[in-house]
Amino acid sequence: MTEETSPYGAAPATPPARVRTRTLRLAKERGERIAMLTSYDSLTASLFDEAGADVLLVGDSAGNNVMGLDSTLPVTVDDMLVFTRAVVRGARRALVVADLPFGSYENSPEQAFGTAARLMKEGGAQAVKLEGGAEMAPTIRHLARRGVPVMAHIGFTPQSEHQLGGYRVQGRGEDADRVLADARAVEEAGAFAVVLEMVPAQAAARIEEALGIPTIGIGAGPSTTGQVLVWQDAFGLREGRMPRFVKQYARLADDLRAGVRGYLEDVRSGAFPGPEHTF
Ligand code: KIV
Repeated sequence: MTEETSPYGAAPATPPARVRTRTLRLAKERGERIAMLTSYDSLTASLFDEAGADVLLVGDSAGNNVMGLDSTLPVTVDDMLVFTRAVVRGARRALVVADLPFGSYENSPEQAFGTAARLMKEGGAQAVKLEGGAEMAPTIRHLARRGVPVMAHIGFTPQSEHQLGGYRVQGRGEDADRVLADARAVEEAGAFAVVLEMVPAQAAARIEEALGIPTIGIGAGPSTTGQVLVWQDAFGLREGRMPRFVKQYARLADDLRAGVRGYLEDVRSGAFPGPEHTF
């Protein structure tokens, strides 16, 4: 059978080896850094995957970054399933981790297992992330013992923003001991990695040192095993005031705006479509 060349490019003969939780652990042992990005759709997933991102997080930050909400709280499991399936379709190498959204796991370990199983069975996620430290340890243990790889998320946890009194750094001063205790508790319960959000660099460095599992920082300084950023922040699709921990590597909003203006002008002047776009 002769194959037509696909206009979208031929698939390489051997797919790259999938990043596994074990790969991340080995990365920490070898002193290698882990690069993680959020993704919510298949096009960015395949782009970030091809570029070499190790982990793609289908974050419930989809609420803010895709759905036009002002928090993650209204995001549902059904919403997360749509985003997760899309990312899984686009990712060949990266480990795909899906967030358990607010209200879908806190009631009981059983509730958490039900949600995690949906994201893995129906969504194709290879792991889940949940927010919470020592108080979530029994849930993490329950999931980990039943075949669900869990990434924990401590420090500032956006689903608790109202309880925490807004976006605030966690673990300053003596509070560093509480965040360290959370980190130890989630590791002991079986989490394969832990996100540290908005934790002072010194406290994060202590945690990185104390744990065997990788730590992934967002606003936690340079000592964590890995880093994660929301892609719309990192590549400038979002504009305006950014959290201090964001570094912008591109200005996609500017490119997009220029492209849209060019298109509108061409349509209005009749310059598009030209003969080369016409059958
Ligand atoms: O939902 C998300 O994007 C996250 C990251 C900020 C870690 O949880």
